[in-house]
Amino acid sequence: MALGSEGRDGFTTRFGIVCAAAGSAIGLGNIWRFPYVVGESGGGAFLLIYLAFVLMLGIPVMLSEFVIGRSAKRNAFGAFKKIAPATWWPLVGVIGIVAAFVILAFYSTIAGWTLHYVYLSVINGFKGASALDVTRIFESFQTSGAMPLFWQMIFIMLTAVIILSGVRKGIEKYSKVLMPFLVLLLIALSIRAVTLPGSVAGLHFLFNPDFSKITAPVILGALGQAFFSLSIGMGALITYASYFPDKTNLSSTSFQVSIADVLIAILAGVAIFPAMFALGMQPEEGGPGLIFMVLPNVFQHMPGGYIVSVAFFVLLAIAALTSSISIMEVVVAFLSEELKIARKSATLITVIAAAFVGMFSTLSWSTFKGTGIGDYNIFDLLDFTASNVLLPLGGLLIVIFVGWYMKQQTVKDELTNMGLLRMVVFMIGWYTKDDRTEEDRAKFTALRIRVYSVFMFIVRFIAPIAIAIIFLNAIGLIRI
Ligand code: PFF
Repeated sequence: MALGSEGRDGFTTRFGIVCAAAGSAIGLGNIWRFPYVVGESGGGAFLLIYLAFVLMLGIPVMLSEFVIGRSAKRNAFGAFKKIAPATWWPLVGVIGIVAAFVILAFYSTIAGWTLHYVYLSVINGFKGASALDVTRIFESFQTSGAMPLFWQMIFIMLTAVIILSGVRKGIEKYSKVLMPFLVLLLIALSIRAVTLPGSVAGLHFLFNPDFSKITAPVILGALGQAFFSLSIGMGALITYASYFPDKTNLSSTSFQVSIADVLIAILAGVAIFPAMFALGMQPEEGGPGLIFMVLPNVFQHMPGGYIVSVAFFVLLAIAALTSSISIMEVVVAFLSEELKIARKSATLITVIAAAFVGMFSTLSWSTFKGTGIGDYNIFDLLDFTASNVLLPLGGLLIVIFVGWYMKQQTVKDELTNMGLLRMVVFMIGWYTKDDRTEEDRAKFTALRIRVYSVFMFIVRFIAPIAIAIIFLNAIGLIRI
């Protein structure tokens, strides 16, 4: 394992970097959360707004996190403390750590459900089940209390084991081999789903925007989904970028990760909605259980359904793991670097705390049924608080920090890798006196400067104003 500067563990290969960041982004957010939120929020119009948010706000926030993380080479809290000592800015890191706990709590609930579905698939538990049976199997599991808790704890422990198996080694190794398989399976599922009778309505729902469905909470929901799915707003990618080597191209990495993330979410939508309409279900009916009630039906109607089902849930669990390690890493890196707690103990503390809060989330449909605010149970409240409040708030502060607080030369250097480039040019010039290098350099930087000015304009003006307006509009303080 290569050591980055200052003796911290670092990512080793370029492919590994993109994979680890993509591994964080691609997870339950794309395959479990995206379809059910789209279903509840009216389909195509939500999809369009979500896409616009990823492009206009998500990518700039992701790139801002990369800039902060790589320039500071610290955890989410420490990065702010290093760049802005004796200010309030490290509080942004605290928001991130709180968000990480909240997300870990409800993320592990769903990841636990996924593990149970691996088990059900292996024992062929859906054999011959009608659509109604599939729904009943899900509901009796969800409301049973002990089983979901058991699987949740297994998942949290698996996450901890990977975190402890060496900082990046585990992540790099697993994510790059397995994610392409998940994509292939999603393609196979989509093909099966769109060839089921009655499936066309599903495609129509997903791709035909009906703008009458758009309300202020739906717009906030699209922002929350974009941030959650891209893993931004809480410093997970600040933490990851702190392990990036100096030569990583930050802007192209942020583009590649975001595009992959969006494509996988859309693919999940194409696998779910046509199947759902073919089964006669209503899109807003599913809730968090949507994929668990729809997909077992699809598996039964395809050749090799048994294997596909096992493989799908195994790969989904792994996708969830590569995301949850990035969430847990935010807390562990903070505890070990800032509070000087050994990584092992830091992981243990995080596991116990996450398991405690997570318990309330998992028991939302059993022990704590009926506890909540309005229609929202504990699980919904945790999800809402993290995705629609803490992540956008963190994202808002992150872009303001990069746009208005950080030294512009530092931001520019990070985006253009100028520090490194200057050194290389200097050295090549020194040894070969080759003036073509200067020309290449001019071309190269001209391109990067364009990216830089667009980026700066967005992080200074567009992103802060847009996020603030979406927020204030959703809580009813302003009306647009
Ligand atoms: N992006 C992950 C997913 O889509 O499943 C979830 C997530 C990971 C959210 C890391 C936030 C985060 F910091």
